[in-house]
Amino acid sequence: MLEVKNVTVSFGGLIAVKDMTMNVKKGIIHSLIGPNGAGKTTLFNVITRVIQPVKGSVSYEENSLMDLRPEQIIYKGISRTFQNLQLFSGMNVYDNILSGYIHNYDKNIFYLFSKNRSHFESEARERILEISELLQIKNRLSSYPASLSYGILKRVEIARAIVSNPKLLLFDEPAAGLNHNETSEIRDIMRLLKNQGKTILLVEHDMNLVMKISDRITVMSFGEKIAEGTPEEVGNNEEVIKVYLGESENA
Ligand SMILES: Nc1ncnc2c1ncn2[C@@H]1O[C@H](COP(=O)(O)OP(=O)(O)O)[C@@H](O)[C@H]1O
Ligand SMILES: [Mg+2]
Repeated sequence: MLEVKNVTVSFGGLIAVKDMTMNVKKGIIHSLIGPNGAGKTTLFNVITRVIQPVKGSVSYEENSLMDLRPEQIIYKGISRTFQNLQLFSGMNVYDNILSGYIHNYDKNIFYLFSKNRSHFESEARERILEISELLQIKNRLSSYPASLSYGILKRVEIARAIVSNPKLLLFDEPAAGLNHNETSEIRDIMRLLKNQGKTILLVEHDMNLVMKISDRITVMSFGEKIAEGTPEEVGNNEEVIKVYLGESENA
């Protein structure tokens, strides 16, 4: 479904991603893991066209994504959440989720404040209610981000990402900063999305979550792929164990 081929990214000499190749198959949860600074978010940014690689390509359902701008990715049915929440602080939860729906209209965020809003909003409304029910944020729709807990904000971001009904979801550390209960809620949500036929590419540090939920795992270290396989294969891989032991010793 998604093919990353020989991608290399350089930030003024620092090679953040090096000759990275990976394929994400349809309908599965595929995790991308590795120590801090391994290049995971950078790879997400290449896939979503925020960052231009010096080498390599990304294609989705056999079509190259390389000519697209970041805001056009959504038309292909690809959506993402961010490692650092990127919600609009001046908009309530309802409007934040609605902002993810605007893309269906090829419009930018200011369309939300235009006189056409009611027409467009009446179409999105049912979907927003359905999703906020699913994510258990229905009673928060009129709240502003500043008044909400981190766990709820993470779910609002997921709601915004899925409101346009994308086929491929990229989640960058959806469980970071969450407690045990909040993390299992996120896990249930991801399982649900998978059961609805979505494909998920997941970057996550919580190994317990990754091992339980992933169908396939790719491991990066210093910009390169060092292992790939089922959770069991990756969990038994010597090099992966070394990298993670190293990380815990440095921590
Ligand atoms: N915009 C940027 N400018 C310069 N260096 C960057 C930028 N983004 C990331 N890096 C560097 O690239 C490497 C990979 O970072 P990142 O992709 O964020 O890693 P991860 O998400 O795996 O923790 C790190 O060394 C990081 O410092
Ligand atoms: Mg990151």
